[in-house]
Amino acid sequence: MTSEVGLDAPVSRNIKENGTMSTPTIGNTVRHLKEVGSTQDAARSWAAEGAAVGAVVVADSQTAGRGRHGRPWISPAGKGLYLSVVLGQDGAERGIQWSIAAAVAVSRALEGMTGLRAGIRWPNDVLVTGKKVCGILAETYSEGPLILGLGINLSGSGSDLDPQASTLAELRGSELEPEALLERLLEELGLCHTVLSEGRFEVLLMEARERSVLLGRQVRVQCSGREFTAQAVDLEANGALRVRTEDGKEESLTAAEVERLR
Ligand code: BTN
Repeated sequence: MTSEVGLDAPVSRNIKENGTMSTPTIGNTVRHLKEVGSTQDAARSWAAEGAAVGAVVVADSQTAGRGRHGRPWISPAGKGLYLSVVLGQDGAERGIQWSIAAAVAVSRALEGMTGLRAGIRWPNDVLVTGKKVCGILAETYSEGPLILGLGINLSGSGSDLDPQASTLAELRGSELEPEALLERLLEELGLCHTVLSEGRFEVLLMEARERSVLLGRQVRVQCSGREFTAQAVDLEANGALRVRTEDGKEESLTAAEVERLR
């Protein structure tokens, strides 16, 4: 059961001065819920009812927030920013691109608002001073669009957080205004959306390489039931992570859990 606390009128931010349509803005319509199971499901249902590309669902809290690999994403009110974005039907093949693009957008927004350098742990965790502050979930379904979910740790501690995670309040020493962060984030996501729509993923990839906390490092990889150590070598043109295993073989990873060892 969702309770809707505000449904903003659609904002026509995607019409250029000469009247032609530009890339749909991310956040052209925002649905703000007080509490929801998962914003991912709310966004998916909304898309099925006709929500356009760029529509965003934000919730104050989630009772069944989810992370990657079926993990829960604990989402208490006032402690985090929880949102999901409806993206295009071509989302399936764009999943990895959007994962990386979103990590770039979040990094830019966090850095712009806190002055703290944000790094990316491929494919899409955002870290500040080595601690995870944002998780991103790009979900595709057999039908319907790609739904991109973002969870940002604003404040709080203890059982809500993984030991390798932190909050922006802790790292920055003071709390961020969630509305201001949301606005900045939607703006950065919109810029990345335009770049992707123009087929210029390589621009975002270049920034993701610069921000990568893995490249050149020894990493532990878990994928398809295997676990091994390797060196993270590069991000490939399609967004895959290239690693070199201890016997010198190179592998391209498109889906894996990767942890930095040193
Ligand atoms: C991860 O790091 O495992 C990804 C976490 C994604 C969490 C966000 S919070 C908003 C959206 N709704 C969800 O249920 N999950 C995502």
